[in-house]
Amino acid sequence: MLFDTHAHYDDEAFDADRDALLTAMPQRGVGRIVNPGCTVASSKTAVELAERYDHVYAAVGIHPEECGDFVPAHIDELRTLAQHEKVVAIGEIGLDYHWPENPSHEFQQMVLRSQLRLAQELALPVIIHDRDAHADTLAIVQEYPGLRGVFHCYSGSAEMAREIIAMGWYLGFDGPLTYKNARKAIAVAKEVPPERILIETDSPYLPPVPHRGERNDSTLVSFVCDKLAELRGVTREDMEHITWENACRFFGI
Ligand code: NI
Repeated sequence: MLFDTHAHYDDEAFDADRDALLTAMPQRGVGRIVNPGCTVASSKTAVELAERYDHVYAAVGIHPEECGDFVPAHIDELRTLAQHEKVVAIGEIGLDYHWPENPSHEFQQMVLRSQLRLAQELALPVIIHDRDAHADTLAIVQEYPGLRGVFHCYSGSAEMAREIIAMGWYLGFDGPLTYKNARKAIAVAKEVPPERILIETDSPYLPPVPHRGERNDSTLVSFVCDKLAELRGVTREDMEHITWENACRFFGI
């Protein structure tokens, strides 16, 4: 069975067929899914989805692109949501310096630190979004020793990957690994220790080849698994088994 460790089924892209799609996942080879939140509201929806489907789990958090209206009371709301037995992580949290209209770097860093403190308090792992903010993201997560996490959709260098692995953290790979320009991610995917790899889709975004331009869903995590197996010279069955075990261990399921 495949474990999609990162998919956003609270997204409106799934409004027309969410229930049919999620209900069918186990028959289609996807045994477990983690749905991270991006706002307090979407974190609530993630928890509701996790309540409705045995094979869906939730993470709760505020995404850096969505953090502009953050107030400290949001941390209390996330803390309450995180009490639910199917909340397995704090995420998706991090830094995104890509778009100039995103909240300021300083504000994003403050929101990230608040959520890392919450994860530490609750002893939950974190799901990190790092876009064009590699140095700051790594420096900030290193302020919290003992914290466990994954760099979702890893896009940094091989050197940074080694530092993350040395911290005991994980790397998440998804659709972009199958893209023509994926040289850096491919180099990292070949050398990361097998026990630190998570596979994910980031659905509805980032569909893998040969589904670019379409809506992504968790069944397409199989293309990511295939690509990793090919790059690492192991069988597809082994890759599927390893990433399943890794995800269960990481999320404590
Ligand atoms: Ni995401």
